[in-house]
Amino acid sequence: MFIRHEWFEKNAIFLLAGTLVTVAVGGIVEIVPLFTIETTVEHVEGMRPYSPLELRGRDIYVREGCYVCHSQQIRTLRDEVERYGHYSIAAESMYDHPFQWGSKRIGPDLARVGGKYSSDWHYAHLKNAQEVVPESLMPHYAFLEETAIDPTDLQQRMRTLRIVGVPYTDEEITNARVDMAAQANPDADSAKLMARYPKANIVPGNGHQVTEMDALVAYLQVLGTLVNFADTSTERLQQ
Ligand code: HEC
Repeated sequence: MFIRHEWFEKNAIFLLAGTLVTVAVGGIVEIVPLFTIETTVEHVEGMRPYSPLELRGRDIYVREGCYVCHSQQIRTLRDEVERYGHYSIAAESMYDHPFQWGSKRIGPDLARVGGKYSSDWHYAHLKNAQEVVPESLMPHYAFLEETAIDPTDLQQRMRTLRIVGVPYTDEEITNARVDMAAQANPDADSAKLMARYPKANIVPGNGHQVTEMDALVAYLQVLGTLVNFADTSTERLQQ
């Protein structure tokens, strides 16, 4: 066996091909079962699908390419955990299609930005980041405040996500427009919205129409807030 191995080591191309085959077999054996095992993504208390307004905000986040400068994954390294909070777990992205982990951090990680600032801070920052953080390089997104959200395809978006496994109920889909309006109007009756989407953040809105800015802020404010890490057994790195 070792003699044949010597032959491999002296023939670089075959060594390379042999290595690739071996690594591929190892990879397949490790990765393929993960697609079929139910427990790959652990079930964690508190995770819920996005409310209609948060969902539209997420779509705007993707459309505007915020992921080009912001990641949404806190790695299991002490410096990251100290700066951003508990490291990200798979369950936190289970309703993200596609997930927004990103790989570039021109700005800070946003996985736990929810609740870090007031909604008013986010409106001001998205409109003109330099006014709030003078050294910021973030572009201005004031135009989002001028554009009303078109609610006509809202239910269709939720139904589409249901096909890929996001568990929206018929009731949630039927009430999508009412829930969206309630989350952008502090004077509205939000009891049903909060029952369907616990911890939803009511954003100030402008009183006459729901804008893309409202949706984006509602989305940012929910990031990282759904799982209470004090209650979960994943509390390892954070002492
Ligand atoms: C060109 C890169 C760039 C793009 C694109 C960008 N940002 Fe930023 N962002 C930054 C930088 C740099 C900072 C840090 C300075 C600051 O707070 O403005 C930042 C900060 C932030 C913060 C504050 C984070 C914290 O913890 O203090 C939020 C929230 C944010 N960005 C949201 C967004 C959203 C939403 C979008 C898309 C609409 C976006 N950013 C697009 C570069 C970018």
